[in-house]
Amino acid sequence: MTLPHSPACDLLGSRIPLVLAGMGGVARAELVSAVTASGGFGFLGMVREPPELIQREVERLRQSGHRHFGVNIIPAATDPALLERQVATCIELAVPVVGTFWDLDGHVTRRLRDAGIMVVHQVGSVDEAIEAERAGVEIVIAQGREAGGHVRGVRPLRDLLPEVCAAINIPVLAAGGMATGGDLVTAMALGAAGIVLGTALMATEESFAHPYHKQRLLAADAADTVLTSSFHINWPPNAPVRVLKSDVTSGARGDPHAPERTVIGDEEGRPIYLFSTDSPLRSMTGDFESMALYAGTGIGRIHDIGSAAARLQTILVQAAELLAVDPADTGDQDVEVSSSVCYAGEMNGAYMGEADLADDLWLLAAQMQAALRAALAQGVDPAAASQPPFAADAAALASWSLQVRQLAEGEGAATAHPIVPGKLPPRALLLQGLGALVPRITRPGLRDRLARLRLFLAAEERDASA
Ligand SMILES: Cc1cc2nc3c(=O)[nH]c(=O)nc-3n(C[C@H](O)[C@H](O)[C@H](O)COP(=O)(O)O)c2cc1C
Repeated sequence: MTLPHSPACDLLGSRIPLVLAGMGGVARAELVSAVTASGGFGFLGMVREPPELIQREVERLRQSGHRHFGVNIIPAATDPALLERQVATCIELAVPVVGTFWDLDGHVTRRLRDAGIMVVHQVGSVDEAIEAERAGVEIVIAQGREAGGHVRGVRPLRDLLPEVCAAINIPVLAAGGMATGGDLVTAMALGAAGIVLGTALMATEESFAHPYHKQRLLAADAADTVLTSSFHINWPPNAPVRVLKSDVTSGARGDPHAPERTVIGDEEGRPIYLFSTDSPLRSMTGDFESMALYAGTGIGRIHDIGSAAARLQTILVQAAELLAVDPADTGDQDVEVSSSVCYAGEMNGAYMGEADLADDLWLLAAQMQAALRAALAQGVDPAAASQPPFAADAAALASWSLQVRQLAEGEGAATAHPIVPGKLPPRALLLQGLGALVPRITRPGLRDRLARLRLFLAAEERDASA
């Protein structure tokens, strides 16, 4: 079982559905290069950077032979004159992709599109996703509130992602707290075409984050992160960030909105102010603990500062293992699943053939996705603002859900995304659906896979009611 074909990979020109977030300051050519060389796709984080730096980093990538990469800018957080020069530079350099975030800038989007540049926009709500699609954006990133750095929306990824996927017809990438292969499989089962990694790739050798920040990340857990408006200088108002808790976020360093400015660091002659959105970079000196120590809730599952290639490889191996796992593959069940006769009682005497198999598998995929959403919602404390986006034990169900979707696609189901029904079907309904479907299938491989899935769900149902 391999990772599903991703339309985002086709568009971006990458081999694997793992995307480096355009982290301002942190994602420079060194990190983008490492991600691209591993088959992923990377954005240079160029928010408010001068055109000369954009040009230098793009040239570095091209000199290393990389052709597929993006440049991230944030129109709403950039002085209009500088923004104009940044956009002109991206057009002059003919960068293939530009990533944007925060308020959608229709004018910038149009200019880039007219120049033949693909635009990827990160959103925090369904309405913003629809607006982005209408404006000509080609890929949307759905950002859950688990994300490190600036957080646009208020909803957890497990709720936002499937709704965004159902609302628009362009590929959707999932961002916020992504750290493992289980996250990749679960996000894809919810409809994502891949995942965006910020924090997980900041905690690598190639990122431009200062070693102080990396070490703080290593020691942290999801509960050590907090959404705060303490760091606001340089940004539009009402722009919360997720960072590691510190004296600044607890209020011990005073009122963030007081008029006076305190210098706490320096970057090549540029003062770094207390309460600014600058995070510690290799190029800085100063009081790093008082700067914005960005971190997403996936941080508790990052245990080393290795290479970016190793991090991506681990995620891929974990995902492949999950997709290969057959949760119902136990010896004594083999006999039962190998024969459709076992299900004859559930056929109501009618053999319906495989005519509508694609549609029925598609419906089943949608039902499984709904069951997955129900499983993800279980045991989640709605009041807790800092927890990983997906419960680890939902990954097996996610893997099955994804596999049924692939089966549906393999049978020629035409719908782009699984439908997300308003009412979640109980697992019993799903079991009934599978029970009716399995005996209709004559191909042994396909029938056995679905029969195993049914056994897996039946065992879960038994456990749940025990
Ligand atoms: C250090 C850091 C800097 C970031 N800077 C930017 C940025 O300049 N532009 C942007 O679009 N997103 C930025 N983000 C947000 C990412 O695009 C993405 O939503 C986030 O990293 C995903 O969550 P994760 O960090 O848990 O993986 C930043 C995130 C981090 C951690």
